[in-house]
Amino acid sequence: MLSTEGFCSVGAEDSSDKSSAVYYYDALKYPCPPNLSIWWNMGSMLFLILGAQILTGILLTMNYTADEQLAVMSVDYIMRDANYGWIIRSLHMGGASMFFALIYMHIARGVYFGAYLKNPHVWYSGLTLYLLSMGVGFLGYVLPWGVMSYWGLTVITNMMTVIPGGARALDWFQGGFVITTVTLKRVFVLHFLLPFVILGFSLAHVLLLHMNGSSNPLGLDETNFSVPFHPYYSIKDLAGFALLLAGLVGMTFTFASLTADPLQWQPINKMKTPAVIKPEWYFLYAYAILRSIPHKAGGVFTMFAAIVGIAVFPMISGSEKFQSMKVCPPARLMFVIWAANFMFLTVIGAQEPAGGWVLAGQFGTILHLSMLVMIPMIKAEWESWLYAYIQPEKKDLVMSV
Ligand code: HEM
Repeated sequence: MLSTEGFCSVGAEDSSDKSSAVYYYDALKYPCPPNLSIWWNMGSMLFLILGAQILTGILLTMNYTADEQLAVMSVDYIMRDANYGWIIRSLHMGGASMFFALIYMHIARGVYFGAYLKNPHVWYSGLTLYLLSMGVGFLGYVLPWGVMSYWGLTVITNMMTVIPGGARALDWFQGGFVITTVTLKRVFVLHFLLPFVILGFSLAHVLLLHMNGSSNPLGLDETNFSVPFHPYYSIKDLAGFALLLAGLVGMTFTFASLTADPLQWQPINKMKTPAVIKPEWYFLYAYAILRSIPHKAGGVFTMFAAIVGIAVFPMISGSEKFQSMKVCPPARLMFVIWAANFMFLTVIGAQEPAGGWVLAGQFGTILHLSMLVMIPMIKAEWESWLYAYIQPEKKDLVMSV
């Protein structure tokens, strides 16, 4: 039988005397539910990728030059001449894609298994991490100074103009009325610094999680039945690391430019706007939403609402006894629709915004926003309905347990 002995203790030295209690925190003994599935591996994998991104990023910095005239040449130097430069850059590019793939799976896990119900504060710190990561991902795309870098920066920074005083703020950020070397230097500094902020926030994210404990695939409270993190989940996380590194290295050596836009290899032409301006795949769903509204401020507002919309999950939900969707078929159906629609929007975001694609984008936008509200609502409703259906006469009794 698994024992719960030796977990994080309060008053471990002298538990009889509360005033001299020694509080200590031992992450290795952190009590975990015994039934955590592979979906609980994503968090530690995110940490690993974050570390790899910081390391490869620092190495790239040693040869990169943030200057309009020199950026393309310095990237070329990294790819052709610097020792193992192409490997380091490919790892960094592939790592960014993997980081976002993991974040999306991590968020989907939270939604499906209702982790936001048990840990709303972890959910909100996670949302902050997602926003910061989006910032870093976007800034990184600007650095190679290819066609998409320049036009992507133009589109996204111009979103600032929809807020009062935004035009002034844009000039201030650009360091002038147009994008120049000054802008590129600022982008580079932010891209270098923000990952360390993300690292700090990630540690806070996990500390917050450890205050309340992990949820689990069943979504039932299992605080009285737990196993220590080490060795049970330290081993499992290591297995996850091996898989992740194999995937990353495999991707780097076989499809090094898989996620890169071919236009990124062309030098900037400030006089010629490309027919389709698009970001990396991991922002395409948001980009599709931005373009589906035929009004600048409306589009920016809707896109922002669609991104931070997951913040409503803990607010809408009630005091469900079952956190997981496993016991709620209607919510599961909606979850599948939501996830499929995310992929649908990703495809739409890469198309020229004309004809049927615009209509499809509008349909996808409405579906995405309505699912954000419907999923937690249906989940809460289903549970009260279930209790009422199974034991109508005992409903109040069960709900108050
Ligand atoms: C840099 C990005 C992130 C890192 C490094 C990170 C790391 C972690 C780690 C290590 C865990 C514990 C293991 C696990 O449950 O997978 C965790 C749990 C969690 N994360 Fe994140 N995370 C990140 C982003 C996010 C985002 C974007 C969200 C959602 C908006 C989020 C929400 C959660 C929640 C709700 C839990 C608790 C799960 C539970 O109750 O079991 N995280 N995170």
